[in-house]
Amino acid sequence: MSAPTLDRSATGSPDEATLQEQFDATIAADRRIEPRDWMPEGYRKTLVRQVAQHAHSEIIGMQPEGDWLLAAPSLRRKAVLLAKVQDEAGHGLYLYSAAETLGADRADLTDKLIEGRQKYSSIFNYPTPAYADVGVIGWLVDGAAICNQVPLCRSSYGPYARAMIRVCKEESFHQRQGYELLMTMMRGTDEQRAMVQDAVDRWWWPSLMMFGPPDDESPNTAQSMAWGIKRHTNDELRQRFVDMTVPQAQALGVTLPDPDLAWDESSGHWRFGAIDWAEFARVLAGDGPKNAERIARRRAARDDNAWVVEAATAYARKHERGAA
Ligand SMILES: [Fe+2]
Ligand SMILES: [Fe+2]
Repeated sequence: MSAPTLDRSATGSPDEATLQEQFDATIAADRRIEPRDWMPEGYRKTLVRQVAQHAHSEIIGMQPEGDWLLAAPSLRRKAVLLAKVQDEAGHGLYLYSAAETLGADRADLTDKLIEGRQKYSSIFNYPTPAYADVGVIGWLVDGAAICNQVPLCRSSYGPYARAMIRVCKEESFHQRQGYELLMTMMRGTDEQRAMVQDAVDRWWWPSLMMFGPPDDESPNTAQSMAWGIKRHTNDELRQRFVDMTVPQAQALGVTLPDPDLAWDESSGHWRFGAIDWAEFARVLAGDGPKNAERIARRRAARDDNAWVVEAATAYARKHERGAA
């Protein structure tokens, strides 16, 4: 579907330079851009890419933990995990709806994901071999998501910012349920403690990669910040996450797998070791441990459920005709 373009030249409405001025003034005053407003094509495209990538991450992100729904160790754990995975589906739906307000078509975005033309977060390409992974994902992955998403509640695009407010409330439940699960396991047997530590060892570095490449290799950051889409750089958010997480690791009694992790009195921050950006590039390019499986499942879900989409679309059309 092509994007709606605004050409008011024939009607005597403002020309593009005036519209650009109004847009710039809205951004400068820290007000929101709404779907009805004129926006530069680059702003619209950047947002579609970011919101779609975010939506895809929510939906693909249901898979690693979804694998544990049938193997949760108690009814309580199952109910909590089910609620969490359903929340992620809801996040995907709000975000696809936000992308649609920018003229994108949801089915087209799904096709782009499946064909590898749009990305999702690299973190969801790692396996979940142990139940402790559910706890560590909640603590670290949802924790990193909160760091990323809280500033997006003030993003300049209204529908995205408003979606983030509800998403962030639910993310803090996700983080807490993960931490509570880990706390329980750490009070358990030696075997359970070892299981938690092993999961932390596997997820720590990929969690730091969730914030994206370092600032000097992130070409779109400056423009996204000028447009108010992003509020902080990747490195700023990564540092915030590390500072928030280290004391939590101490309270939990786990060791973060970084010998260079050290408190820096002068800056008031935790300093951490070098991130393996080659691994990040490899996983992002499709060569992570679970990329092929994640996409194959998403493709099967699209194809197997095509009849539901067709039936729902036909039903909606019938009602539209009735209303007309
Ligand atoms: Fe989410
Ligand atoms: Fe979450």
